[in-house]
Amino acid sequence: MKSSRPFTIKRVGLVAGTLYVVGIATAILAKTEAPAATAATALNGGAIYLGEAVCIACHAPQNKQFTHTVHAAVFRQNPKNELQQKSCEACRGPGSNHLKNPTDPANRGSLVGFTKEWGTPVAQQTAMCLTCHQGGGQMFWPGSPHASNQLSCSDCHNPMAKISATGLLKKPSINETCYTCHQQQRAEFSKRSHMPVNEGKLSCVDCHNPHGTASNTLLKADSVNEVCYNCHTEKRGPFLWEHAPVRDNCLTCHNAHGSNHDKLLQVARPMLCQQCHTNAGGHQSDLYNAGQLVGAGGGVSSRVLGRSCQNCHSQIHGSNHPAGARFQR
Ligand code: HEC
Ligand code: HEC
Ligand code: HEC
Ligand code: HEC
Ligand code: HEC
Ligand code: HEC
Ligand code: HEC
Ligand code: HEC
Ligand code: HEC
Repeated sequence: MKSSRPFTIKRVGLVAGTLYVVGIATAILAKTEAPAATAATALNGGAIYLGEAVCIACHAPQNKQFTHTVHAAVFRQNPKNELQQKSCEACRGPGSNHLKNPTDPANRGSLVGFTKEWGTPVAQQTAMCLTCHQGGGQMFWPGSPHASNQLSCSDCHNPMAKISATGLLKKPSINETCYTCHQQQRAEFSKRSHMPVNEGKLSCVDCHNPHGTASNTLLKADSVNEVCYNCHTEKRGPFLWEHAPVRDNCLTCHNAHGSNHDKLLQVARPMLCQQCHTNAGGHQSDLYNAGQLVGAGGGVSSRVLGRSCQNCHSQIHGSNHPAGARFQR
């Protein structure tokens, strides 16, 4: 939430006066509620719950935005438990101490804020969200690269406004949300050959879970290859004739995001293949002898034209042809 201040301090004072009464009344009700509230009460310096009507009286603009979110819909129309019913205070903790002096910076410990300026420690912010979201996709949050780099949920989410079609994100799309910090990846997806992420055919979360995973690099599967097989199933095989580096790791030859070489290749062909196939004297490494180059008078080698080695070895990911041992069919 961006802290906007559409109301003047004068008005705040007025409203505060009127509302304090309402607040106390609601507070008494709140105090007689579930014991679950006690833990949260300690959180905001012994405050008590007031109910969202009190908050909305001063925070009408925020409420207007909030109304369009899935949080508002569930908390107001179909709360599953008492905490959800508390609406604003489900995420902020009980609010009575905040009302004592909303504008005093020294009083900021009286509420959980999700902006940097407010100063609530990151661990406390995420704990509030995780009260309700700790399972499922968020299971591996503790210790994940984002958590250990002190990201808060609100670095990617705005739980108070509907800016994105899904996921209550801070930016209109998933990719834009990630690019705010990952500039290098933005550059990679702009290269000549790239996964169609900016074209909207897939997004970062098709391959990564930003909340944390059991595997490296926030990948959504146990290995790089398993991630790729999710969409490129034909590359999984099994093949009669396997090509060892393909089974080992797709990234031996491809960049997962983008490359300036054809087909996201790490290195241009034929050098790609020649990194490993160096059999001196064989046709594999013996490529650039003068007679084979364009304009040398003789026939230009098919190894430097078009798909290079693949002009003949076309089934580079594996072959199921009985005579496909050299991946030619
Ligand atoms: C009497 C008016 C008033 C009431 C009632 C009120 N607030 Fe506030 N609130 C303010 C003012 C003024 C600020 C701005 C303080 C500042 O920026 O220094 C503020 C700031 C906040 C912030 C800080 C946002 C940020 O991170 O920058 C949050 C969160 C908040 N209020 C939540 C609540 C909740 C939840 C309730 C209901 C329990 C509530 N407020 C009731 C006046 C009020
Ligand atoms: C009191 C429980 C509760 C708290 C606290 C809470 N949420 Fe939620 N959240 C929900 C519920 C209920 C939904 C509705 C969808 C569902 O059932 O998962 C939801 C949905 C979401 C969604 C998915 C929106 C969508 O379009 O599918 C996101 C993202 C989210 N919350 C983020 C947060 C963040 C970030 C915080 C902390 C600032 C937070 N939530 C705090 C209960 C909570
Ligand atoms: C690095 C960015 C990032 C951070 C940090 C982050 N999220 Fe998310 N979150 C996302 C993205 C992206 C999605 C997918 C949105 C979509 O599918 O539209 C998502 C989806 C969700 C969803 C809905 C889908 C699901 O997995 O259930 C919830 C709930 C959620 N996040 C909660 C949280 C909570 C709680 C935290 C803090 C502990 C958090 N997120 C931190 C980026 C982030
Ligand atoms: C607020 C800044 C921020 C945002 C937004 C953000 N990240 Fe990150 N991300 C980081 C930091 C910091 C690291 C750890 C340092 C590094 O590797 O650069 C990181 C690391 C990563 C890593 C590497 C993890 C590893 O094990 O090396 C991946 C993958 C990643 N982020 C994906 C995403 C995705 C996907 C999104 C969008 C949903 C996203 N990030 C949004 C800050 C951010
Ligand atoms: C097609 C799947 C896929 C998509 C889509 C994807 N990534 Fe990745 N990403 C990977 C793989 C695979 C790795 C490398 C894993 C490894 O080396 O272990 C990776 C690595 C990373 C890293 C770690 C640094 C690096 O480059 O090795 C970051 C950060 C990252 N991705 C961010 C993003 C962001 C941000 C997006 C969306 C804009 C995104 N990724 C989209 C598959 C993907
Ligand atoms: C979520 C689905 C998805 C995942 C996961 C995925 N891809 Fe793709 N990939 C695509 C789509 C869509 C295209 C574009 C196909 C098209 O435009 O015809 C593509 C295209 C490609 C291309 C060809 C690009 C070109 O210029 O023709 C390569 C190479 C590729 N992917 C490699 C990988 C690798 C390696 C991985 C694992 C790191 C991976 N893909 C994971 C969906 C995916
Ligand atoms: C030994 C290097 C190498 C490895 C390892 C490799 N590829 Fe490729 N891949 C290539 C080359 C070279 C091309 C271009 C083929 C062409 O021009 O016909 C290609 C093309 C592709 C294409 C686009 C054309 C097509 O065949 O659909 C996709 C998708 C692809 N690879 C996915 C993968 C996946 C997924 C993996 C891991 C399972 C993988 N590759 C591993 C070398 C490799
Ligand atoms: C990372 C190393 C690596 C790269 C890169 C690589 N290969 Fe291979 N390739 C191998 C290994 C290992 C074998 C298995 C060799 C064996 O069984 O003796 C193999 C086998 C082959 C075979 C079958 C050879 C035989 O003796 O049965 C052909 C043909 C082949 N590769 C062509 C290519 C082409 C064309 C490229 C480039 C698109 C390429 N390779 C890229 C490592 C690599
Ligand atoms: C004009 C077609 C053609 C091109 C282009 C070609 N090859 Fe071959 N390659 C073959 C044939 C035919 C064989 C099978 C020879 C045999 O079975 O004895 C072969 C065999 C191989 C073998 C198996 C070991 C060997 O030497 O017999 C490897 C490895 C290989 N090629 C790699 C490459 C690489 C790397 C390139 C690109 C620099 C390449 N080839 C370009 C036709 C080609």
